[in-house]
Amino acid sequence: MAIRLLPPVLVNRIAAGEVVERPAAAVKELVENAIDAGASRIEVVLKEGGQALISVADNGAGMTPDELALAIERHCTSKLPDDDLSHIAALGFRGEALPSIGAVSRMRIVSRPPGAANAWEIAVEAGAKHAPVPAAHPPGTRVEVRDLFFATPARLKFLKTPRTERDLAVDMVRRLAMAYPAVAFNVTGDEERVLLRLTATAEGSPAIARRARLAALLGRDFAENSIEIDAERGGFQLTGLAGLPTLNQALCATNCSSARCAAPIRTCWRATATRWWRCFSTGPRRRSTSMSTRPRPRCGFANRAWCAG
Ligand SMILES: Nc1ncnc2c1ncn2[C@@H]1O[C@H](COP(=O)(O)OP(=O)(O)OP(=O)(O)O)[C@@H](O)[C@H]1O
Ligand SMILES: [Mg+2]
Repeated sequence: MAIRLLPPVLVNRIAAGEVVERPAAAVKELVENAIDAGASRIEVVLKEGGQALISVADNGAGMTPDELALAIERHCTSKLPDDDLSHIAALGFRGEALPSIGAVSRMRIVSRPPGAANAWEIAVEAGAKHAPVPAAHPPGTRVEVRDLFFATPARLKFLKTPRTERDLAVDMVRRLAMAYPAVAFNVTGDEERVLLRLTATAEGSPAIARRARLAALLGRDFAENSIEIDAERGGFQLTGLAGLPTLNQALCATNCSSARCAAPIRTCWRATATRWWRCFSTGPRRRSTSMSTRPRPRCGFANRAWCAG
């Protein structure tokens, strides 16, 4: 058999298998993009668990028509301005999410930077890209993903019931929302059912805002029976709340679920509070940290000592 370079549509579809394995993964990528765009309000709509429609709208920085055309190309990102992989300050940086999602769905992005005279819209269907056209939309961006995996039917077989997929997607938003109390989140499902509503808590100190957001997500009991954590070691900063063992329900709010990630976090909180259990970190990755969610969630620290244990 002759070796050949695969056509870009196929390359994107193969890559999509790693980036978007289910609706919750697409929701994660789109909400992360909205957070990276500086949004203070994010609206998510899920139809049939996200398989029929995922819509993520934000009031962030928006994109010009030229940027829209680039955003759906692989390895195009605005988040590595100096090509320095050890200095990542955003949730994304690979430039893979949008082209991957567009390769396996019918995707439409409508966007308008604040101050622009009008919005522009671009569509991708199973990897086939259209040119940007003028559209009507307020400042910000809305990404609509319809018929996820219609272009890769084998993937559909691995999806669980719409209800389970919906719950996984909402859980993903809840995890991200923990770390961003200044952002309001709204998630609605079929028949406009409200699945999650979180108001922004931008007033007061970051610690007060965090506590209010966690009370909304984990309950008043957790907020009232937890202590503040703010520790720094070797360039890795951990902030958050640690709750009582009896309220053992807090989660790691970074987008990394790796066991390796737990070691530095554990060391950090041991130094802070020995009698308390479970904590979560918040905020963007620091200079010394690089994370990847592919092919498996894993986390690498510039200082290898953090990964011991
Ligand atoms: N909601 C949004 N608002 C403004 N710009 C956006 C938005 N979503 C995407 N973009 C732009 O499109 C680019 C491509 O997005 P995409 O998610 O594919 O890649 P990324 O976020 O750079 O990296 P990753 O693949 O790791 O998520 C982004 O770098 C950003 O410039
Ligand atoms: Mg992204």
